[in-house]
Amino acid sequence: MTDAFDKAGRYLTAGLRLLPAEIAHDVAMLAMKHGALRCLPKQQQPSFAVPLHVNVPGIGRLRHPIGLAAGFDKNIRCPNAFELMGLSFLEMGTVTPRPQPGNPKPRLFRQPETLSIINRMGFNSDGSRLVAKRLKDLNWKPSRVPLGVNIGKNKDTPQEQAINDFVAGVEVFNAHAHWLTVNISSPNTPGLRNLATPEFLRELAQSIGNIRSKCWIKLDPDMDQGSFRKMISSIQHEGFQGAILSNTHRVEWPEAGGQSGYPLLSPSNSCLEWAWDVTKGSLPVIASGGVLSGVDAFHKLARGACAVQIYTALVYRGPGAAMRICEELSRELKLRGFESAEEAIGCWYL
Ligand SMILES: Cc1cc2nc3c(=O)[nH]c(=O)nc-3n(C[C@H](O)[C@H](O)[C@H](O)COP(=O)(O)O)c2cc1C
Repeated sequence: MTDAFDKAGRYLTAGLRLLPAEIAHDVAMLAMKHGALRCLPKQQQPSFAVPLHVNVPGIGRLRHPIGLAAGFDKNIRCPNAFELMGLSFLEMGTVTPRPQPGNPKPRLFRQPETLSIINRMGFNSDGSRLVAKRLKDLNWKPSRVPLGVNIGKNKDTPQEQAINDFVAGVEVFNAHAHWLTVNISSPNTPGLRNLATPEFLRELAQSIGNIRSKCWIKLDPDMDQGSFRKMISSIQHEGFQGAILSNTHRVEWPEAGGQSGYPLLSPSNSCLEWAWDVTKGSLPVIASGGVLSGVDAFHKLARGACAVQIYTALVYRGPGAAMRICEELSRELKLRGFESAEEAIGCWYL
């Protein structure tokens, strides 16, 4: 179904894509912050061919599995706009303890021929104090859409003190975020991915105590399979809530940075398969990487994800992307004989 919201949104997004990528992002964020989406025709609530509800442990019962991935709204500027797009759960951040500007521009590149994006933003962040105040003032209730915060480390924090940045972030956001994500997988902060070890997770778990059960660990898709499996076991063993699979894939060409979108679909699907092989579905997993259509989303659920996050799809399909992906997903489920989205979770392994 094409509704007027979707159509207008796609025209606007096509217009924005005439601008350099980061300027387009900033313009879109500013417009959304000032309520631009409310000026579009109201989005129709589509009726799905099969029910799409999913249960995400620690996050809640969602009306469908499609949520927002981290990095779009790093500083919690306009969660209302993403709620209006129909996304069912929102991940904000990455937020670092102290404000930092991120890497020099240009640092964001669209690759329309491959439906991908390369970014080397490097955690441009307003810092946790300001962002936490913004979140507190919002008084955001999970009954709207659950909102989580993704935590990172400052670039200039020495590696041996990195744990302090994560503990500080978790403690600052614990009171107001509905869940937390520990980001040890961005390719754009030197040394960050070296923290993806069972030893680091053990130290973090000990330092944050019970809050660990509210934390998801986001991994990168470039780890060798052996290390990846050890990380999945460790996430489960240390009592974290689950894993987000995956962050962007590191590339050097045509730009250095992390690649998202279509080329990430297959590597991030492999991560889901390896994780299932380790835990047989007993560790909750949220999928992220290359979901541009409902069929892509189906393949994430089939490989054991209980929910799916999108970023690049919003850039190429516009603000109606989540609802379109839901419609396509429900048609795909029906075609394959499923009566609900929940029934399809993990079906790949049966
Ligand atoms: C411009 C950009 C910035 C991102 N920033 C972050 C970030 O700050 N923290 C994070 O965990 N992931 C970040 N990501 C990764 C996304 O959250 C997501 O995992 C990735 O883009 C794969 O999903 P997609 O293929 O649907 O875009 C960023 C992605 C993009 C494109």
